[in-house]
Amino acid sequence: MILPIVLFGDPILKKRVEDVSPEQKDLKEFIENMYETMYAADGVGLAAPQVGKSINLFIMDASTFADEYPDAKDFKKVFINPEMIEESGEEWLFNEGCLSFPHLREEVLRKPKIIINYLDENFVEHEETYEGIIARIIQHEYDHLRGIVFVDRLTFLKKQLIKNKLINISKGNVNAPYKVKTTRIKK
Ligand code: NI
Repeated sequence: MILPIVLFGDPILKKRVEDVSPEQKDLKEFIENMYETMYAADGVGLAAPQVGKSINLFIMDASTFADEYPDAKDFKKVFINPEMIEESGEEWLFNEGCLSFPHLREEVLRKPKIIINYLDENFVEHEETYEGIIARIIQHEYDHLRGIVFVDRLTFLKKQLIKNKLINISKGNVNAPYKVKTTRIKK
């Protein structure tokens, strides 16, 4: 089932999430719905709050980047209760987008290498090191679970320049090419 994606401006994107427990009801189905939703919107990552659920989980599929980044090939994973252990290296710019910000793309600085601890969909614990595009997607999604969105990582000046675009998105005045949920009433 395709779920509506929450747009920037919805307070759920600012909330800190609750940890997921193995007893979480309908978790498998929820993850399947998240994948269906992400693929329908041509996304490479999706965090639970973006579909209106404030729980500590994100999914990703980096395979669309496989031509440019070989380690992205078939890289499809669910991250439950992730914890960033370390981020290192010299920050690099990458043009990021986010399904909660239709049609907006901006260059964001992030460190290139991470160590992350997480549970997979079977609640098996992993601690892994990732770099490049994989690390980038994980960092972006991990931020969502802490109430941080990618525009929060822009400089004040850059944010001023896109202020009107952000206001329009938060008002729902945007034509998303996928199903979205807006909190404000359109006139
Ligand atoms: Ni995002």
